[in-house]
Amino acid sequence: MTGAMKTFTAAVVTVSDSCSQGERTDESGAVLERLLAGAGASPVVRRLAPDERREIASMLEGLCLGPDRVDLVITTGGTGLSPRDLTPEATLDIVEREAPGFAEALRAASLGITPHAMLSRGVSGIRGATLIINFPGSPKACREAFAVVGPALAHALETLSGVRGECAR
Ligand code: MTE
Repeated sequence: MTGAMKTFTAAVVTVSDSCSQGERTDESGAVLERLLAGAGASPVVRRLAPDERREIASMLEGLCLGPDRVDLVITTGGTGLSPRDLTPEATLDIVEREAPGFAEALRAASLGITPHAMLSRGVSGIRGATLIINFPGSPKACREAFAVVGPALAHALETLSGVRGECAR
């Protein structure tokens, strides 16, 4: 991360029935927590949500507004085609403005790694002054996705917070 914004606050929301029920370790959340901390996020809070649209949406809303607000929320999981994959719908339920470039970049870059990138329906958008980006669920996909969006985060969050009024052209 470069530029005026040295640190930012972040949350990792792992959307998974099995992780939220304690049946599986949240490996992807741990991977993202480490990557975000390395990129200057402090603190990085972790949340677990079941694949329930309303629960995900209200958790996301709570991370965008009020005392638990953070600058950036990365979700992991629930972006695929299975009937319970509803993270994109929950995200769209609460964002005010879409910021599709992040999700587009993830799918485009990921297609060079696996054709299964087509299966992720992840979205990205803004609620208040918080940026939300959906990542796929596997730890591998999280590492790959962070490598794509990481370099754009500082500038994105500075612009969103008003620290930087104009883009460098
Ligand atoms: N993107 C990257 N970069 N790497 C991956 O391994 N896996 C794909 C896709 N996107 C993958 C990826 C697979 S196999 C699926 S099913 C979808 O993300 C959706 O994953 P999710 O349901 O865990 O969110």
